[in-house]
Amino acid sequence: MTSKREMYRELLLQAQGLFEGVRDPIANAANLSALIWQGLPDLNWAGFYFLKTDVLMLGPFQGKPACVRIALGKGVCGTAAASGQVLIVPNVHDFPGHIVCDGASNSEVVVPLLRDGRVIGVLDLDSPLINRFDADDAAGLQVLALAWVAGSDAQ
Ligand code: SME
Repeated sequence: MTSKREMYRELLLQAQGLFEGVRDPIANAANLSALIWQGLPDLNWAGFYFLKTDVLMLGPFQGKPACVRIALGKGVCGTAAASGQVLIVPNVHDFPGHIVCDGASNSEVVVPLLRDGRVIGVLDLDSPLINRFDADDAAGLQVLALAWVAGSDAQ
């Protein structure tokens, strides 16, 4: 069976292949969302929010239509963006202020996107399973987020 780390290593190689010769941040975010969606099991949402002044604005994603704007500091995404730290939420129903986009979500991980030390957005994954995301997911997704930042022009 493929280990989680191997899965993320494979995803990174595929992402680097897709980013090759493409600097457009939206095109790369769209392809990375699709890659994660296809490559990782037990997800019901995977995608990007981009920071516009003090609001996270919906970016490319896979899954059901989602909240378009999330204020900095609000919900799981806004909390991760405000702190600049990866946030793993084993059970979203226990997270005060969690914003429900898809009622099927039970756990969530949010990885801030950092360019030159500043938060420019987040990569957000939701799962219908409780406790779907662990430290290996956080590490693997951080590497993918770094690859997206390095492989894409600033917006
Ligand atoms: N649950 C998130 C909102 C975004 S959706 O899950 C796609 C939050 O609390 O910030």
